[in-house]
This record gives sequence, C-alpha cells and structure tokens, in this order.
Amino acid sequence: MSVNTRIRTVLGLAAVSALALGLAACSTPESNEGSNGDGGSGELTTVGFVAVGPEGAWREANEQNIQDTFTEDAGYELKYAPATNLDQKSQIDAFTSFVDEGVDVILLSATEASGWEDSLKRAQEAEIPVILLDRGIEPDDDSLYVTRIAPDNVEVAKQVGTWAAETFPDGGNYVVLEGPAGVGVVNERNEGFDEGLGDAALTKLDAQTANWSAEEGKSVFETMLKANNNDIQLVFAQNDEMGLGAAQAAEEAGLVVGTDVKIATIDGTKNAMQALADGQLSYVHEYNPLFGETALEVVERTLAGEEVDSYIVVPSEEFDSAEAAKAVLADRKY
Ligand code: AHR
Repeated sequence: MSVNTRIRTVLGLAAVSALALGLAACSTPESNEGSNGDGGSGELTTVGFVAVGPEGAWREANEQNIQDTFTEDAGYELKYAPATNLDQKSQIDAFTSFVDEGVDVILLSATEASGWEDSLKRAQEAEIPVILLDRGIEPDDDSLYVTRIAPDNVEVAKQVGTWAAETFPDGGNYVVLEGPAGVGVVNERNEGFDEGLGDAALTKLDAQTANWSAEEGKSVFETMLKANNNDIQLVFAQNDEMGLGAAQAAEEAGLVVGTDVKIATIDGTKNAMQALADGQLSYVHEYNPLFGETALEVVERTLAGEEVDSYIVVPSEEFDSAEAAKAVLADRKY
C-alpha cells in the first residue's frame, strides 16, 4: 500500500467519513441517486459480507456493527458469511458464491492475507466492487479492490512502541504475543511497534503467536516467564485477549502488573479497558471496530460511480493510565 494513498488522520469518525468521501476523485450524475442504498429504485442493494466470524470481542463488535448498519431500512440486503473455524477456504467459497450470485458489492474481512488474487480478479471481471474491512491482503494490489477501511495498524502499534520507549528509558526485556501467522495485521503491528521503539534500550527476548486468545496468551506467557526466570518487564500483546491472558500468568507467577511487568495491548474492548482501570493492564490502544457508517458511505459512493481513496483510516485513541480508562468506561460502546 503506497503511503501517499493513506489518509492518516486523528479526526473523529464523522470527519474521516467526510474527509474520505469528500476526496472523491470524481463524481457522476448518479451520485445524486437515493441516499438509502436503493438508488431510488426501491430495490435493496445486495451486500455479500465475507466475514471472519467468532474470534473474540473485537470481531464480535465489528461484525455486529456492520450488520446493524446495512439493514433493509437503510436499503440493503446484507448476506453475512462468517468463516468456518477461521478457515480461508470457507471464505473463498463464500466469496465465489457471492460473485456467481451477482451481489452488488462484497465486503471482505480476510482470515488470511495471501491467496486472494484469483477471487478478487473474478469479482473485477464480474464488475463487483470489493471493499476490504480491517484486514489487508498480501501482495497488496489496490487495483483489485476499491478501498480498505481500518484503523492504521502501523500507526497504532507505533504509538504502543513510543509509549514503551518512554516508559522504559533505562531499558528492559520484552516479549511479543502475536496474532496468528499469515494474518496481515500481525506484520503491520510488528512493523509499527519496532518503529515506535526506535533505539530504545529494550531487548526482545521472544515473540510467539497466542492466536488472539486469552487462554493461549496465558499459557504462552507462562512458558516465557519460566524460560526467562520471570525477568521480563514488558509484554506487547497484539490484542486485548492475549494481554489479559498474560496478566493472569503474571499474577500466578507472583508478579505485580504495573510494577514487576507492564502489559500493553491493542483493541480497546470493554474487558481490557476495565483491566486498565483496575491496574491489570498498563496501556491499551484502541483499534476502533465501529466503522459501519463509514463502510456504508463508501458503498454508496462506490455504487454511485465515485472514487474514494484506497485506504480509509478509522481513528483510534491510546489510553496510558487507569484514569484515562475510567474516563471512558461508562460510555464504552464495545
Ligand atoms: O484484525 C484485527 C484483529 O483481529 C484484532 O486486533 C483482534 O482482536 C481480532 O481478532
């Protein structure tokens, strides 16, 4: 993804929508068609949503938000197709069915980053626009899709790395709990975290996947602690669940989170924000999943013949203290 096509913004979501959509490279007379997805014809716009399915709190919030947005009242028939056990083949099969069925647009949250070229080319030949939600593809050929809508993983993780460098001016040992191998955001988050660390005197002892899971996060971090005689001062967990699992492991090893070890996570789900407020996590960076309205506006503009930028960044905040978490807990939407 060329950086210059990226909209890096910290504006509010509404502003991002306006910003992204206001940058339409061109508009056509059709853009004045009905604003509720039916193009004024009264027929529903069919949307094939090739989704990830059950994976954790973030995914549940994201996919529910998409389903709550693309409703019949809004002029859409959303066909929700979650993967079977996170299996990419089930996603490719669903994608192919949507192309054969001739849906108006496909939304894709990919379980795996690679292996999408043939499917995307088939959709292109069928003139069905594809919009990536959250996950990118590798190799990233943005001629094969309209846009990717997601928080900027590199930027989010860079801010985690910057926090870590500032928090450990005298250095320390750290480990990384990664998402599953092959998932695009894992590489983006590693890239951003390393960028944010810069030349900090932090030593990376280990990095292993814990598959986005609290249970695996606990067991993997337990093993890391034993292998390093508890001499680990920082955990970068690439999502909340793995960080919460690591916090359990730290406690069972007799370590105090915040004093003996600090744990930083990405997502910003309710449980993590409560844990941050309670001192069981040290830092949480939001990876805002609630971008259904932006996705709907992008679909409308796309079907009206307008262009949008090939990467639309969903703004996300960082929370670096219990006070920061307490300030937002009551109104947390996910
Ligand atoms: O792609 C986003 C990641 O997928 C989230 O950070 C994680 O919680 C989800 O499973």
